[in-house]
Amino acid sequence: MKARAYVNFALIKYWGKKDEERRLPHQSSLSFTVDKLYTDTLILFDDNLKEDNILINGNINLEAEKRVVNYLNILREELNVKSYVHFSSTNNVPTAAGLASSASSFASIALAFSKEAGLDLSKEELSRLARLGSGSASRSIYSNFAIWKTGNDKTSVAKPLKIDWPEFRIIVLMIDTNKKRASSTNAMEISVKNEELYSNWVKESKLDLELMIKAINQKDIDLVGKIAEKNSNHMHDLIESTKITYKTKDSLKAIKRIEALREKGISAYYTMDAGPNIKIITTTKYVDDILKEFDDIETLVCKSGDEAHIIK
Ligand code: PMV
Repeated sequence: MKARAYVNFALIKYWGKKDEERRLPHQSSLSFTVDKLYTDTLILFDDNLKEDNILINGNINLEAEKRVVNYLNILREELNVKSYVHFSSTNNVPTAAGLASSASSFASIALAFSKEAGLDLSKEELSRLARLGSGSASRSIYSNFAIWKTGNDKTSVAKPLKIDWPEFRIIVLMIDTNKKRASSTNAMEISVKNEELYSNWVKESKLDLELMIKAINQKDIDLVGKIAEKNSNHMHDLIESTKITYKTKDSLKAIKRIEALREKGISAYYTMDAGPNIKIITTTKYVDDILKEFDDIETLVCKSGDEAHIIK
């Protein structure tokens, strides 16, 4: 079975787990799924295999392979499957550059594997399974905006935020597509240990989420942008308190240019994840002005991507 899932970018970030094994977050998060970045995963059960046969982007990649095999073991246990698999996954995302390839990867694996097992799981069941591979993958089951709630192993799933806002856009600035320096899993673990700063992050991000839901419902791009920017900066301050930084000189230069665009009345706001690339939050009205400003950097203008689905 072959499945496609799209990358999502968080406007309210997930950062830190209360349960490493079950990947349960300390706080809820909210994201937007994008159309230009996705992963296709093909999974075929084969009872003659003695181990999983893994190809990632057509190559052998031992580090990524280990994580995939661990996840396939979890799926076999969860769905009561005995077979090893032929596995081939292709990203149209520069892998591990903080462009959230783990979200689209694990969501596509969860869907392909469960369908290959003959199961027709609900979106929430799929979201839970995807979460067991990578937290942010729980949100890539859906198109448009999704909220992933904190909770227990059963209740911590993502659900769609029902809002029709076709003008909403995220523009990715491809600052650097090389491999990121610290994995989000490790960086998160270190952040959680910093108890005082971490508990403040959890408290603030809860408030940010409530305000963000209201702002999205009002389709107020300036309010959405401001809250997302504040939330992203808070997460990066927390990360930087652990001596890890994902921001490069080029990221900081691009941020200055986004702030300058705002001075000219253009609604452009930024958010960053576990890598140097920048995502600009905006609406269709401002896209041309933003592209004109960033004509020296590769950009991807994204609208909502589809929900995760099977490809024939
Ligand atoms: O699911 P992970 O381990 O790739 O964590 C991703 C965390 C951030 O991208 C930084 C934030 C988020 O909510 O997507």
